[in-house]
Amino acid sequence: MNAGEDLSPLLAPFRLGGLEMRNRIVCSPISINLADGRGHVSDLVVQFYAMMGKTGVGMVTIGASSVSPEGGSTNTGTHVGKPEFEPGLRRLADAVRETGALSSLQIFHVGAQGNTAYSGQPVLGPSAYVCPDIGIMAHPLEPEDIARIEDEFVDAVISGLNCSFDFVELHLAHGYLLHQFLSPYFNHRTDRYGGSPGNRLRIMEAIAEKLARREPAALRRIGCRISGNDFLPDGMTIESNRPVVDLLEALGCAYWVVSAGIYDTAKQKPIHMARGDYWRYAGELRRFARAPVVAQGGIRSLETGARILRDGQGDLIGLAQALIADPLIIEKSAAGRSSEVVPCLECGRCRYLKRKDLTFDCVRPEGAGGVRPEGGGSG
Ligand SMILES: Cc1cc2nc3c(=O)[nH]c(=O)nc-3n(C[C@H](O)[C@H](O)[C@H](O)COP(=O)(O)O)c2cc1C
Ligand code: SF4
Repeated sequence: MNAGEDLSPLLAPFRLGGLEMRNRIVCSPISINLADGRGHVSDLVVQFYAMMGKTGVGMVTIGASSVSPEGGSTNTGTHVGKPEFEPGLRRLADAVRETGALSSLQIFHVGAQGNTAYSGQPVLGPSAYVCPDIGIMAHPLEPEDIARIEDEFVDAVISGLNCSFDFVELHLAHGYLLHQFLSPYFNHRTDRYGGSPGNRLRIMEAIAEKLARREPAALRRIGCRISGNDFLPDGMTIESNRPVVDLLEALGCAYWVVSAGIYDTAKQKPIHMARGDYWRYAGELRRFARAPVVAQGGIRSLETGARILRDGQGDLIGLAQALIADPLIIEKSAAGRSSEVVPCLECGRCRYLKRKDLTFDCVRPEGAGGVRPEGGGSG
């Protein structure tokens, strides 16, 4: 805590991609595994993100939606890119807008970190890879499947914006497919999609080019979550992400979010977050990025968020577990009652990483875990 920190810069309006945000606080993406089992938004999904909007954040990011049939990490996640998903997604975007928050739809493909047991789908990645936690061999993608997935990302961006989300956030972190192509740790291809930094960037160039051809204005409605550090000798860092940052900024990318780690290094994440390393990576990106940077990871109070802004480590801050543990954190802190905020216990119950068959919940009775099917959470 940084008692006495002036919260007014954090609570002041901000312009993001030409749109007004009521403050500089973003609800980070929180996957809750409560879609209908076929990728469609359910009432519980709408209810949860509306609750996040009502916390008073400036923008709600919807947890990762898969662009491909095989791209989900679980069969209870949301999907995007086909007309059948649009009515639910539109309802979700409308529900968030009604709370006064902007909205962003995060999109991803799980790639080589997929689990057939949870998704019911084959596991595909840039190269053969066995995620140590999962133990399933990912098969290298054929060039025609890479082209298909590029098209699916483009369809997903266009569809998300048509559903009236303000932004669509590309997931280039946490070891998912786009991150896998960028990273020499995952990508051992010897064709035009691997072997050099330029080739590893090719999938992103292709997505950007295809989008520019179909819907150029959409490029200014894209945000990206990148990895500040994979905690691996041959993983990504802010510096190795520079080519993708330059590429997307030249096309008008609206914002960046800095995260870190992949499934294989997930155990290290809380240590780095607690040390504020994630905000340091965001500060590094901010030195050369033009678009606003969201610093996130381990922010447990608005006072810490305000200090991060003051220290120049971010233009915006992202909160996940602090909002889950106490959806009233913004209201209480803004009223000078930060001491009443219910702290996150760091118990890990809500975290989605390992058990894709569980739905989200929080051990705090005051928390946002109250969104669950009748009879309690599935775990
Ligand atoms: C339940 C839960 C679900 C999450 N789902 C996603 C997700 O879909 N996409 C993503 O990029 N990060 C996801 N995250 C990570 C958060 O966005 C955030 O980066 C992380 O929790 C660290 O921030 P915090 O300390 O404010 O919680 C999830 C985190 C939690 C706790
Ligand atoms: S479940 Fe545990 S880790 Fe997650 S927000 Fe609640 S208290 Fe924090």
